[in-house]
Amino acid sequence: MSVNKIEILISKLPGYSMGAQNKMAELADSEMETGKKFARQLLRWNKYFNKRQMPWKGEKDPYKIWLSEIILQQTRVDQGLKYYQNFIERFPNISALASAKPEAVFKLWEGLGYYSRCRNLLETARHIAGKCEGKFPADYQSILQLKGVGPYTASAIASFAYNLPHAVVDGNVYRILARIYNKIVPTDSTEGKKYFAALAQQTLTPKKAAEYNQAIMDFGALICKPSPNCEDCFFHNDCKAYAVGNQKNLPVKLKEIKIKERWFYYFVLKAGNSFCLRQRTENDIWQHLHEFPVIEKSEPVSSEQLANEFESNYSFKLMQPLSATVQSTQRLTHQLIHFSFYIIESPDQTPVKHFRWVKINALTKLAFPKTLQQFISHHLTAT
Ligand code: ADE
Repeated sequence: MSVNKIEILISKLPGYSMGAQNKMAELADSEMETGKKFARQLLRWNKYFNKRQMPWKGEKDPYKIWLSEIILQQTRVDQGLKYYQNFIERFPNISALASAKPEAVFKLWEGLGYYSRCRNLLETARHIAGKCEGKFPADYQSILQLKGVGPYTASAIASFAYNLPHAVVDGNVYRILARIYNKIVPTDSTEGKKYFAALAQQTLTPKKAAEYNQAIMDFGALICKPSPNCEDCFFHNDCKAYAVGNQKNLPVKLKEIKIKERWFYYFVLKAGNSFCLRQRTENDIWQHLHEFPVIEKSEPVSSEQLANEFESNYSFKLMQPLSATVQSTQRLTHQLIHFSFYIIESPDQTPVKHFRWVKINALTKLAFPKTLQQFISHHLTAT
């Protein structure tokens, strides 16, 4: 599928935010509340429950923070730890690194890969020692000017060393924000990047930037992982993606979006004014909602095949061939669902395993997925 076509598809998804077109992430009042509550609870979780230990945590020396952040740019924490410790031991401050022989620095970096990081490290140490009287820059823009330092690293250094209010934004932060606000905004588009940067900045607790930034990194590493531990998460009652079962689908990327098509064939069994239905228990976006007996397929099927499958799955004998259906479609984050409804008149309330018969008046008080609700209100009436 071409990128343009995907873009059109995502722009139609529920929850897709047009805010991505603007530089500022415009949040509704309720979303601002969500953000504030998240930041408050994140800091609390960090203080009382976050047990993650790393030698650079709580560090205030900008040299050591800078070194750790350069190492962690393309390296996992467990792999980077030993390198960080070796560097600090051998070059405990910027002047020690600036006066080192390049061979010695490269030897210490050996095995970490992405050697341009090591070249920049040495060049920057010499620049600071020579041009800045050995003093590490202390404002965001000057930090950002350093070779090898991008917005993420500059925000990390500015916040950790000087508590300046700059939110870190990386893949972890995209994932966390996309989920807590349920934002279906592609993170690999220019607009999406701006959007999440603005959202991150609005969510940050500015007076506690150091604590907040380290906490959100740890939260992304321990709880809100690509495969999230929602049951252990302090925020699951307020997370907007969790509320609709969307957490595993977020964040979205233009490049990765694959729309899965599904065909749902509903059998609306009707005996007088009663209908056969059940409450769903599956942990998905329709958990606890109600539904009619259904056959799900990954491609369209003939009515003969459908009738056979229905009879054998539900032990229910159809008296006539399947005839005219009501059809509709629904687009979800990663899915396009085709719905077909067959109304089947039954002479009596034949028991169907896991299902019950409900009078139409009671049925209209129950919760159904949106498409079923629409079908009920347009096509089911008391006779
Ligand atoms: N990745 C980048 N910076 C980090 C930090 N300070 N702690 C943990 N992981 C990180």
